[in-house]
Order: sequence, then C-alpha cells, then structure tokens
Amino acid sequence: MNVLSKIKKFPKNFLWGAASAAYQIEGAFDEDGKGPSIWDTFTKIPGKTFNGTNGDIAVDHYHRYKEDVRLMSEMGLKAYRFSIAWSRIIPDGEGTVNPEGLKFYDNLINELIKYHIEPIVTLYHWDIPQALQDKYNGWESRKTIQAFKKYCQTVFKAFGDRVKYWVTFNEQNVFTAMGYRWASHPPNVSDVKRMYAANHIVNLANAEVINLFHQMVPQGKIGPSFGYGPTYPITADPNDVLAADNADDFNNNWWLDVYCRGTYPALVMNHLKDLGIAPEVTLDDEKLLKSAKPDFLGINYYHGGTFQQNQIEHPDKTTQHEKNFSKTDPYLMQPKGTQAQTPEMAMFNNVENPYLHKTQWGWEIDSVGFRISLRRVYEKYQLPIMVTENGLGAQDKLEDNNVINDQYRIDYLQTHITEMQRALTDGVDLLGYCAWSFTDLLSWLNGYKKRYGFVYVDRDDNGPKNLTRIPKKSFYWYRDFIRRNS
Ligand code: BG6
Repeated sequence: MNVLSKIKKFPKNFLWGAASAAYQIEGAFDEDGKGPSIWDTFTKIPGKTFNGTNGDIAVDHYHRYKEDVRLMSEMGLKAYRFSIAWSRIIPDGEGTVNPEGLKFYDNLINELIKYHIEPIVTLYHWDIPQALQDKYNGWESRKTIQAFKKYCQTVFKAFGDRVKYWVTFNEQNVFTAMGYRWASHPPNVSDVKRMYAANHIVNLANAEVINLFHQMVPQGKIGPSFGYGPTYPITADPNDVLAADNADDFNNNWWLDVYCRGTYPALVMNHLKDLGIAPEVTLDDEKLLKSAKPDFLGINYYHGGTFQQNQIEHPDKTTQHEKNFSKTDPYLMQPKGTQAQTPEMAMFNNVENPYLHKTQWGWEIDSVGFRISLRRVYEKYQLPIMVTENGLGAQDKLEDNNVINDQYRIDYLQTHITEMQRALTDGVDLLGYCAWSFTDLLSWLNGYKKRYGFVYVDRDDNGPKNLTRIPKKSFYWYRDFIRRNS
C-alpha cells in the first residue's frame, strides 16, 4: 500500500468502464448507406494486415449491439466508450447526412442510458472517410478541418442532449506516425515531413471542434485521448537523463503541450526546423491552438520507454540494451538502420528496460509506470484525467464448457488498477477508467488472435464462425470489483 498516506477509496461516481472503436467491432462495413473509410480500403491491400484480416464483419456489433449492452449491464459497467464512424454519418465525409447512420448511434446511446451506462463518445478513432482522402489528401488539407467540423456539429446536435463526455481524437500520436511515417496504417505514407504537416492540421481540427463543442454543448465535457508512455533514463548518468527528457518532449509533450497550452515544445520544434521538417504554423493557428481548452485529458496507457544518450553525441557508448524497432507496436517508434533518418537519432536512443516483463506481443508490462504517468500528466497540466484505455492483448483459449480462464488478464488489470488507486491517493483527479476492451475485437494489425475483451467472441482470423459472446473469467472478476468499489 501507499507508504505516505492511507489509500483513498474510489469515488462513488467513478466511471468504471470499458472501451471499443467502430472499425474494430461494428462490421456492416457497407450497410445502411455507410461510405468506405480509409481502413476499409487499407485492409484490402495485400500484406498490410495480419493474415489479411479486416473489419468487414468484425464482431458484428452493428447487429448485436443490444446483446452487447445487455452484457455490459450484467457486468455492472458504469460507462462505455465507443467511437462513431464518420463515414456512417456522412458517407462522403462532407456532403449529405445519412439518417440511418445517425439512427444506429441514437439507438445505441438510448440502449446504454436505459441500463444507466454513461456513454463516452470518441469522434475520431482513425477512420476518416475514403472520399476525403481521395479528394483532399485527408488530414494533409485544411479543407478536411471544415468537413470534420460539419460531422462533429451533426453529432453534437443529435446526441449532445444525452452524451456528456466526448473524446475528440484517439491517439493522434499513433495514427499520424503509423499512417504517415511508417506506412503501417492508412493512408500508407512514409514521409516524416508530411507526418508533421498532417499532425498540425489534426491539432487545428482538435482545437476547432473543442471550441465548437463548448458553444453547442456547454454542459458537456470534451478532450483528446492520448497514447501516453512515461520515459525513463537507463542510468543516472545525466546524459541518459537528458535523453529521457528529450524523449518525453518528442513522444509526449509534442502533443500534450499543444492540447493543454496551445504551444509546441521549443526543443522539438527547433530540432525539426533545423532538419527542415517542421510544420508550418501561422499566427492564426497559434491563436486558435491557444483558444481551445479541453475539459479533461483522456489517457490510453499500455507502456512507456527507456532511453539512453544518443549515439551522435556519444558514439563511444555501448548499446547492448538496444530495442528492436517494430512497425506494429505503436508505442515503439524508434527507427533503425535505413529508417533512422532523423529526427530522434540526435535526441535519444530507445533501449530495453531490464526490470520489466513483456506480453506475448512484446509490450512491456509496467503497472508502476501507470501511476507515474498519471502523476506526471496531472501535475503538469492540472486537468482531470479519464483513463480511456488500458488492457492486455493475449491469445485466450476457449476451454471445455465455455470457460476462458484469463487469470493473466485479471492480474494485469488488478495491478494497474491498484497503481491507479495509488495515483488517486497521491492526489490525481481521476474521472474514470475504461479497460480495453469490452468484447474481443479486431486488433488493427494483429487480427482476431490478439484478444483484449472481457467477453470472448467466437470468431478467428479465418472467418466469423458463429460470433457467440462468452464471458471470460475476467468478466466476472470486473463485475465483482465494480460492485465492491461503487
Ligand atoms: C490503442 C488503440 O493504440 O491500442 C486501440 O487505441 C488498439 O484501437 C489498442 O486496439 C491495442 O493495440 P493493438 O495493436 O494491440 O490492437
């Protein structure tokens, strides 16, 4: 327990939740007037996803949402975070509104409210309509900001009376890097300068929509969800400490400072300018970024990173702990070999942490890092925090009598929640915790094999099978945990 003070209880109204994203669960990819999104297109490019898996059917939540919400209520969930597919609401991104798309989310929201489950709506979980990609180059054009505003205005108007919590962008750091630098997400671009340019446009869209929301839904709360990882120095050598600070600016503050203060961190901006890859920021942009104030920060937490002084200034340093770069781990963006054409080469070197174990997919398991993250973010920005994702991807096994004995997931969640409780005791203002995920779902690049849910869905990478929902052991554990803590 906490050595400094008595551990605090979670508040009665704490939002114990679970999360999902449209493309990963809905399926019905071309039904009821939905237009294609960039993920519908990208997953059809051979070799891009694990075994060619896609979200055409996903776990068929579109047709089974009532069953899923009933299971949520059986579990006692207080909140459910899901995303709206922009291409269901406005199939070509900016033209006519599709009433059937609105109807689906209207029904889902009403169903949640019927069971007293607070809806938390993400406006953008990576699936811009393909038509906007084709017409404007998606997030590389300022015209897309206007289209995004129109879509947001439509859903604020339709659901703002019932939905209090809204998330603007999910993990902007991940989708811009994977999409524009590593070509491992759509739009399949590999150009670091274009990544920074697109990222700036997304920042402007984020700010515009926060301002619009505050006019339209003054009683609501809105903020972005960021994929945060704490940075650690590998040793107490001040050069390693400096490298970890550099990594913090590069991996975290580059986004969080803009969201919360309206400015880019000077260190990274200067460095990008020197390299000729900085985004163009006008005076009007600066004003806009400063004007938008999120009401809370969404934090998605999986793992952080460990850093050593860079090899340009310190070529004599041995790097025996060096990490393998992975294009499929969104939290490990250290380039290697020919990919290492700046900008982080001069700032830090990403290395293995000898103290941490890893998941089956090589992600570090670091529950204390969760407490560190919450404290760092809260102390720095002084905004309430909603944990919008945290969970364990594993290969679950369906045993006889429909048993899924995912004790490893329970252990993971339990230790993370304990550290969150310590952070609460330390003084962090926390609104809720959404585990990733409610049902099993499509892992963007790892298919259906990498499972995260409390509820097993009987399908695999080869096809949908019967899509039966089966609560895992963790389902009953979370149900009992919520009962005890609210
Ligand atoms: C987050 C995303 O990056 O991590 C989720 O917001 C995603 O959409 C989750 O599913 C886990 O990632 P992965 O690659 O293991 O599916």
